Amino acid sequence: MNKATFAIIGAGGIAKSQHLPNLSRAAHIHLKTVCDINKDAASAAQKLYDIPKMTTNHREVLSDPEVQAVVIATKEDAQAKLTIEALQAGKHVYVEKPLAVTTEECEAVVAAQEKSGLFAVVGFNRRMAPAYLEAKSVIDADGGPTNIHYRITDDFFFRDNGTKPPDFRMIHEVCHIFDILRWFTDSDVESVYCVEARRNDVIITLRFKSGCVASITDSGHATYDYPKERIDIIGDYGSVSVEEFTELRTFGYPDYDPVYRFEGHSHPGREYAPHYMLGLGGAEALYNIRRGLWKLSRQVHTDGPSGEVVADAELAYYKKHHYINMPAINYMVNKGWLEAVDHLAECILSGKTPQTACAEDGLKANQICHAALKSQNTGEVVRMADFT
Ligand SMILES: NC(=O)c1ccc[n+]([C@@H]2O[C@H](COP(=O)([O-])OP(=O)(O)OC[C@H]3O[C@@H](n4cnc5c(N)ncnc54)[C@H](O)[C@@H]3O)[C@@H](O)[C@H]2O)c1
Repeated sequence: MNKATFAIIGAGGIAKSQHLPNLSRAAHIHLKTVCDINKDAASAAQKLYDIPKMTTNHREVLSDPEVQAVVIATKEDAQAKLTIEALQAGKHVYVEKPLAVTTEECEAVVAAQEKSGLFAVVGFNRRMAPAYLEAKSVIDADGGPTNIHYRITDDFFFRDNGTKPPDFRMIHEVCHIFDILRWFTDSDVESVYCVEARRNDVIITLRFKSGCVASITDSGHATYDYPKERIDIIGDYGSVSVEEFTELRTFGYPDYDPVYRFEGHSHPGREYAPHYMLGLGGAEALYNIRRGLWKLSRQVHTDGPSGEVVADAELAYYKKHHYINMPAINYMVNKGWLEAVDHLAECILSGKTPQTACAEDGLKANQICHAALKSQNTGEVVRMADFT
């Protein structure tokens, strides 16, 4: 099969948990080079995934005429700059979210993408999650969404321990949700209102130009056993809900089954049991796996050698007992990461325009983040017209 040649810049957390294993098995991708300023990280990835080349200098990647596309997964402080450099060097880009923290940087990427005529895809991978693609097709056949509730929660605040900037969750996490709601509604946001109960514990309401309204419950104060994400969508007649990418339920649609279940995401050569359990047991399996992991984490809390609070308890548990070598459940549900990078490769090979989020979508999500933060700080409804 014809394959597009890719390189990856940044071999840290998301690269190890998603992009490296995905790029090395995607049907339409040949992964030629891994680059990281940290030589050990680049070497380890090269060895584990048998990647032909490794380097610590991204310019070596960008000057390689064989490389057609780069995945950029560094951090928000470098992603916009590297994307612009890559586009100027004639490479298509898949850049992780957030495209940048400031709107100006996002605008610069959009300008560079337009000038280059190349693809610049942003890592809003949820658009390719199988459960969401199915949910969208069901609700679109019913006139599209009129009312959506999205819940995104984390035990992040506990791990974060208050050290991250107050706007961190909005810019880094809720940006995903603004994007996916724009995708589900096929519409732009007209106005935003955000109220805060305490830090990292907010409700955001959105009015879309389509007439749809949406609310987002965003909290960093949940426990690990609580599923991280859920969407409920009301259509013209019926409705759908998706529990953490695992179980889609339809209501009021005689032509659809009431329940669809989705297998989890897996890594090559490491097929974790929960991957299959999610497909078989759906939401019930998800609750049980999460509950089990949470219980293990509590055990580490109380049985820890010096009795101190272990912030990243369940992770510490797996590091200590790495016989399981299992990723967090967060990376075990299928949020469309593999599908999103492979889709870019298919588009490069066929010349078709990617259906995933592009630089302009990265910019729009960023603008909504800043509008929501403004509303949170002023207590007022913010109209997007004032931001664009
Ligand atoms: N889409 C998702 O589901 C998802 C999930 C997690 C993280 N992310 C995003 O992915 C990005 C990376 O996050 P992470 O957790 O992997 O970060 P990380 O800090 O774990 O990894 C970043 C890596 O990039 C390397 N790096 C930094 N600057 C570089 C440069 N100029 N050239 C080459 N290498 C460089 C670092 O050495 C590090 O190894 C962030 O923007 C984050 O928000 C997305």
